[in-house]
Amino acid sequence: MIMASEFYITTPIYYVNAEPHLGHAYSTVIADIQNRFRRARGEETFFLTGTDEHGDKIVQAAATKGMDPKAYADRISSLFRETWPLLDIRPDRFIRTTEPAHVATVQAILQKVFDRGDIAFREYQGLYCVGCERFYTERELKDGKCPDHGTPPVHMKEKNYFFLMSRYQDWLVDHIRSHPEFITPERYRNEVLSFLKDPLEDLCISRPTSRLTWGIPLPFDGGFVTYVWFDALINYLSGLGYPDDPKFIRFWPAAEHIIAKDILKPHGIYWPTMLQALGLEPFKRLHVHGYWQILDQKMSKSLGNIVRPAELVETFGADATRYCLAREMAFGLDAVFSRESFIQRINADLANDLGNLTSRTLTMVHKYLSGTVPAPDPLSGPEEGLRTAVMELVPAWEREMESLASHRALQAVWEVINHANRVIDSTAPWELAKEKAQEGRLSTVLYSLLETLRIVSVLVEPVMPETAARLHGALGLDPDGCLDLDSARTWGRLPPGVETVRIPSLFPRIQTGEGPSTGLERTKKPGPKKAPHRRPPAAAEAEALGHAGTEPHEIPFEVFQQLDLRVAEVVAAERIPRADRLLKVTVRCPEERTIVAGIAEHFAPEELIGRKVIVVANLKPVQLRGVRSEGMLLAAKDAGGFHLTTVATDAEAGARVR
Ligand code: MSP
Repeated sequence: MIMASEFYITTPIYYVNAEPHLGHAYSTVIADIQNRFRRARGEETFFLTGTDEHGDKIVQAAATKGMDPKAYADRISSLFRETWPLLDIRPDRFIRTTEPAHVATVQAILQKVFDRGDIAFREYQGLYCVGCERFYTERELKDGKCPDHGTPPVHMKEKNYFFLMSRYQDWLVDHIRSHPEFITPERYRNEVLSFLKDPLEDLCISRPTSRLTWGIPLPFDGGFVTYVWFDALINYLSGLGYPDDPKFIRFWPAAEHIIAKDILKPHGIYWPTMLQALGLEPFKRLHVHGYWQILDQKMSKSLGNIVRPAELVETFGADATRYCLAREMAFGLDAVFSRESFIQRINADLANDLGNLTSRTLTMVHKYLSGTVPAPDPLSGPEEGLRTAVMELVPAWEREMESLASHRALQAVWEVINHANRVIDSTAPWELAKEKAQEGRLSTVLYSLLETLRIVSVLVEPVMPETAARLHGALGLDPDGCLDLDSARTWGRLPPGVETVRIPSLFPRIQTGEGPSTGLERTKKPGPKKAPHRRPPAAAEAEALGHAGTEPHEIPFEVFQQLDLRVAEVVAAERIPRADRLLKVTVRCPEERTIVAGIAEHFAPEELIGRKVIVVANLKPVQLRGVRSEGMLLAAKDAGGFHLTTVATDAEAGARVR
């Protein structure tokens, strides 16, 4: 495949009238994912984000805080700048429209377009929305009101400078028609084309200083400042050092913008025509996504329903938050945010599917092969099927990533992860390990699983960089190796003889439902129900592996807090027919509940009655031998047998243990 060796990706520059929220985080995470993906392909990349700081909106927001616009912009801009590293987002440049270099570029560009005769001074009267800072035509209004703000526009008459955008309408229509990928997904391309069916009006690009001073002065008339959109769009050029910086020469032809549908018109119409007027080639692609909604409303500061990215990272971690953002929204369509659906995703996809595959594989490699990567025999049966699936996955994943469909790219990776989990079930390595004659087969199966994990770690890197590096490290490889997509194109690059490393579980399960508060159950609208995912390892496997994946490892305090440990008094105990090891124990903690405990070989039922024990009270109930078990008795085990836990002094039944 022939690939361009440069890639330039941008996000919108965000207004500093609101602090960063999930919507901003989405565009910026998707840009970071694209940037990492292209870098992994060996391309030279440049990733730009930043803040948009001029205009009425900012003046008004600053005034409500009793601050001057610059001090206010400084504060909110820093919030954006400090938020992105929390999500492991690594832009090459963070631009602010108040930077002197940007201001100078905007003025130079205005002068150039003016000198070329593409800016005219005219009287204009029309309907103006203060929130949008722009004039609307009657046709654009919804029931006579601004479609974005729902407020009636005011009638305004003033002299202003106009960019003669209409001159470029035919060129733009031709360009969009002859470049199907110019605006994607297609629905947004069609939206722009349909808008262009009517004559394009010229764009008012100035505001008189009598009305607004917080803006970039027009170089050819000190009585006006620049309209904020004309100023803001130019960041994509000034961020690269237009016109002379080698970065500009190198990266501009490879420019791709990510935006949401709210700002399609400035990007799909104003921006390409501005570039054309400047004699520059248009950007390469514009990628448009939908809105994150909360209870059917767009998330926005004015609606007061924002979700803060920093809070999500604190709860779920950077990688899991990035994964959920990329996986839960189909690029181009709207998505509903709920914490529950994020938790379900994390538990099902990350803790179960990927987490289990990793811990099962590494546990078996340690138990049966002392942790060393084995040399495989020629593949056959399920392992061969797995290799084929992995090798088909890589190009399919790449195609989806190229079209920004990271949700579909991840879905494809997870199909293979589940395929690998099924290969473990069907080959039952713990059975192979029992027979000397099956040694070669065992090595081949385990090698295939390790190799699948290696390739998966490369493919998840753009979305979950830390997890990818941990996985690579666990396979005994240099963690930076997951940054090279070429290494995923060939099967068999994991060198036999390498020592693998056992790691704590990649993603601990997050508890939900009843029981102590996790602080995660705030949103009311439940997320989409998903099919139940993988069950825990089968009994034979669990027994053979000494309960794979349940080794103690460090957990955050919040995870410990999710356990509901209580003092319980045993009020009844009896044997369960045909179950030699089980006792049915009734406890009071303080409500009565039944617990099925595997302690019949160590305790007679009578000796338990009246004892105070410690129980886990918020385990999901299970049926064992037809009896519902609603918790677990805690006991210590050593060479001398079982020792029930209890309290040293007479605590009340139901007292919480912390
Ligand atoms: N300053 C302009 C952009 C100038 S770009 C030259 C602006 N700023 S903004 O702060 O309002 O950001 C809008 C962008 O933030 C959207 O296009 C999108 O990238 C992101 N989002 C804001 N709210 C969003 C959602 N609720 N959902 C998804 N993305 C959202 O417009």
